[in-house]
Amino acid sequence: MGRWVWSRAECGSSGDCLEEVSKSAVCARGPITDDLMCLKMMTFGLAKCTITGVDGHGPRDGGTPILLVAGAATGHLQANLQIAAAPPGGAREGSCHWSRTNSVNLSVLGADMLALLCLCVVLLVWWFSRPKKSPSTIPGPRPWPLIGSMHLLAGHETPFQAFTALSRVYGDIFSIHLGSASCVVVNNFKLIKEVLIAKGGDFGGRPDFARFHKLFGGDRNNSLALCDWSSLQKTRRSIARTYCSPRFTSLQYDRVNNVGEEELKSFLHQLDQLPHGQPCNVKPAVLMVCANMFTQYMCSTSFAYEDKGFQKIVRYFDEIFWEINQGYAVDFLPWLLPVYTGHMKKISNWATEIRQFILSRIIDKHRATLDTNSPPRDFTDALLMHLEEDPNMNWQHIIFELEDFLGGHSAIGNLVMVTLAAVVDHPEVAKRIQEEVDQVTGGTRCPNLFDKAAMPYTEATILETLRTASSPIVPHVASKDTEIDGHEVSKGTIVFINNYELNQGDAYWDEPGLFKPERFLSSTGNIVKPAHFIPFSTGKRTCIGQRLVQCFSFVVLATLLQYYDVSTKESVKVQPGCVAVPPDCFKLVLTPRK
Ligand code: HEM
Repeated sequence: MGRWVWSRAECGSSGDCLEEVSKSAVCARGPITDDLMCLKMMTFGLAKCTITGVDGHGPRDGGTPILLVAGAATGHLQANLQIAAAPPGGAREGSCHWSRTNSVNLSVLGADMLALLCLCVVLLVWWFSRPKKSPSTIPGPRPWPLIGSMHLLAGHETPFQAFTALSRVYGDIFSIHLGSASCVVVNNFKLIKEVLIAKGGDFGGRPDFARFHKLFGGDRNNSLALCDWSSLQKTRRSIARTYCSPRFTSLQYDRVNNVGEEELKSFLHQLDQLPHGQPCNVKPAVLMVCANMFTQYMCSTSFAYEDKGFQKIVRYFDEIFWEINQGYAVDFLPWLLPVYTGHMKKISNWATEIRQFILSRIIDKHRATLDTNSPPRDFTDALLMHLEEDPNMNWQHIIFELEDFLGGHSAIGNLVMVTLAAVVDHPEVAKRIQEEVDQVTGGTRCPNLFDKAAMPYTEATILETLRTASSPIVPHVASKDTEIDGHEVSKGTIVFINNYELNQGDAYWDEPGLFKPERFLSSTGNIVKPAHFIPFSTGKRTCIGQRLVQCFSFVVLATLLQYYDVSTKESVKVQPGCVAVPPDCFKLVLTPRK
């Protein structure tokens, strides 16, 4: 890689010119290549420069010119520079030399120049990040330069509340630009079904956020939830189905039940170690029991609660789960990425450490004892055997798939915590669960999965938590030019499914603001779920882990409340539109029941 270099002699604008400009700068179109040698200098006001090329590289004629934009400035500018494409025809000639030097030094720009520079940065970033395609005839707010309509999301606790508010103005389907991304939001059940079911094949993509790549080894297609639809994804889903969606009458279901019963013993032991009658941190124990249920069920391995390596990866999985549930401006304004360098490094480190743990503490042992002539012992065996049989699967696919599913324990642990937050706010709910569990178990054993049918109120409480938490459905992306409700939607458009409206809208629920588990019970006390209740989504990308969620969250919650009264000394508030609580969250008071 070479470098752009200016020398004073060549720039005639009163000495305020670039001496050397870093080639390490980021180009909007990827790394700078020799082909991108043509430099136009309009925005720097270096009008008297002319472009020349040295080292055998001449100025490029034709094509999109590029120009340099200062990334940081403090009086004397010594900055990394960003390079972006210049507006066609909007540039004046500058002069540059191509050389192989390394230093960066942008010297003494005056205040006027700096102001002008800032303005230019804003204009340029807007120009190049402006929406390229309008999402057809769908009504929606007019975007602002640079940020699109992101400002309209401010002032709401979750973007989905903003979407609901905007749907009152623009209708049940509206378009919105977030940064430069063209998005469509669908707000009623009919339209949501059209996107997820009737046209599921047209909306099989996922947004291309930089964070998603960082979390999955540099490529979001390694992740089952964040990848675009592909034949690989179809295969991965089908391997997972037997283990992650066990049917009630299957052997796997029995295994889930046995694992659950076994792991609850160490969970109770762990709860016993916590200080009782005073606020304590319950979340790590809840996460660790869920993690052990997953590792035992999927990999026939479990870990001691005191195991520091185990504690660390459970924490990292939880950090990632929280992270995935947060929205960041940088997702839609990728030019903010330099500001997020530290953050991106941090999340990619979590993922790396998790991978190392899974390889060294789970997979190595498993591979050593794998018997390909016998039926798979567990999900890990099934994956390893598939690797041998299917030429389209590689080692990387196996590791990421296992990691993805093991990470599902965090979703369940967080769901249990969100349920406990609701329960401490509604002691009458805890009381009814306790009555149910006492009656079914006779107080002599822990509840198990086969008690579920006889404990509908407990199950209804978890459903009501899923409704009130309104965990968002991962956005879908149009994989081809298509339509929604007769409106054109172009390839690449991000589609937000307003699940919040489905869960909280007056049109769908009676008193939606109240926490009422009984809304999921029929007059005869059986579970009833309205068709529009889709916390796990629906269609070809529906959640694969939902049966495990229903199984493990049920036994963990019921067991905890069987043995303890749970209360709090602080005000417990959870983030709406989110089934996650922060890694360091509220404390609970556990009081052993008599
Ligand atoms: C609180 C618990 C959970 C909730 C509320 C939940 C909800 C969801 C939702 C809404 C989707 C997006 C579906 C779509 O885009 O249409 C999804 C996808 C997915 N979930 Fe879950 N999930 C939970 C737990 C789990 C667990 C425990 C696992 C694994 C064992 C899991 C595995 C997956 C996978 C692999 C996908 C991606 C499917 C695909 O894109 O093809 N989930 N989940």
